[in-house]
Formats: sequence, C-alpha cells, structure tokens
Amino acid sequence: MNQLFEPSSLSGIRVKNRIVRSATHEGIADEEGHPTEALIALYTRLAKGGVGAIITGEAGVQRNGRSSANVSLMMHRDDFIEDYRRVAIAVHRYGTPILLQLQHCGRQTNAKAIGGTPVAPSSCVPDMTQNLRGESPRTRCTWSRRVGEGQGRHREVGSGGSPIQRCGASLPRT
Ligand SMILES: Cc1cc2nc3c(=O)[nH]c(=O)nc-3n(C[C@H](O)[C@H](O)[C@H](O)COP(=O)(O)O)c2cc1C
Repeated sequence: MNQLFEPSSLSGIRVKNRIVRSATHEGIADEEGHPTEALIALYTRLAKGGVGAIITGEAGVQRNGRSSANVSLMMHRDDFIEDYRRVAIAVHRYGTPILLQLQHCGRQTNAKAIGGTPVAPSSCVPDMTQNLRGESPRTRCTWSRRVGEGQGRHREVGSGGSPIQRCGASLPRT
C-alpha cells in the first residue's frame, strides 16, 4: 500500500504513482469515433485529480474493426491525429501520460457497427486471411506513426506477437 503513491514506470513511461485508469470505453466519442470535448474534460479531471496514467477506451484501427459498443473511439485515419493531440496536451499539463488503446474487434463486432461483414483471422470468417496477412506490417507502422503524431508514445505492452497473433489471442475459436 505504501508503494501506491510512489513513482514507477509502465513499459518505460514514467508515472508519478501506481494508480492507473484502466482502459474504459466511455461512450462519449462522436458518431465517427472522434474524441469529444466531454471525453477531454473527463480525462482532464482524472489527470488533475492525480491519477498516475490513463489508458483510453478501445480505439478502432480500421473501420471494419470498430467495436459494437455505442460510439467507441476510432483512430483509423490521419485526420484523427489532431483530436488525439488535443487530448494528450490536456492531460500532459498535469504530468499524466495517456496510452491510446488500439484494437480491431475482428469477429467480435457486428454488421451494424461497421456497416459491413465482420472479418477475423480464422477461416470461420474467410475475408481476414488475405486482409491482415497482406497488410499487417505496414498497417502496424501506420498505427504507431499516428499515435506518435498525436503526441502519443507507442508501446506494445505485454505482447511480442504480430497483430495477427494478438487478434487471434483475443478471439475465441480462432
Ligand atoms: C464500462 C467499462 C468499459 C470498459 N472498456 C474497456 C475497454 O475499452 N478496453 C479494455 O481493454 N477494457 C475495458 N474494460 C475493462 C476494464 O478496463 C477492466 O479491465 C475491468 O473492468 C476489470 O477491472 P476491475 O476488476 O477493476 O473492474 C471496461 C470495463 C468497463 C466496466
């Protein structure tokens, strides 16, 4: 307990204490997935209150990987970079790092959320084999660059796998 308020590091990122806002889908992105003023206000309140680090809720890296949760974040195009830069600047004023949680929901989303048929790495849903195997290395660099340009720092916490392996690990029956 006495270590709770002591500085530490998360994958090389300095944190002033060990209190972390766990990745939480807040449901206050806009329809397209941009972070809203309400979300910035929430993260700012957490930072001001002294939390050591904030992990955002899931942000989809491709349109067809968006979560079916109501109005989830997206980070699938360069024009989103500026929005996330504003989020980062707001919380960095209080010395709080913020980690953007990137994700592709694979088959764990639905047609309504993505406006098409869900794709996944396994043959249960055929499209994904070509889709991710062909694109993942470059796509991964693109995700990393986007986060960097939004004043983020890209870290892969707890995973040495490729995006395909990571998707597979998080998806049942694949
Ligand atoms: C409303 C809500 C939204 C969540 N959104 C995410 C999310 O976007 N990404 C994620 O990895 N976990 C998400 N989680 C899981 C939490 O980060 C956390 O791991 C989970 O609540 C277990 O922690 P606890 O035992 O302290 O509640 C969410 C949890 C809740 C309750």
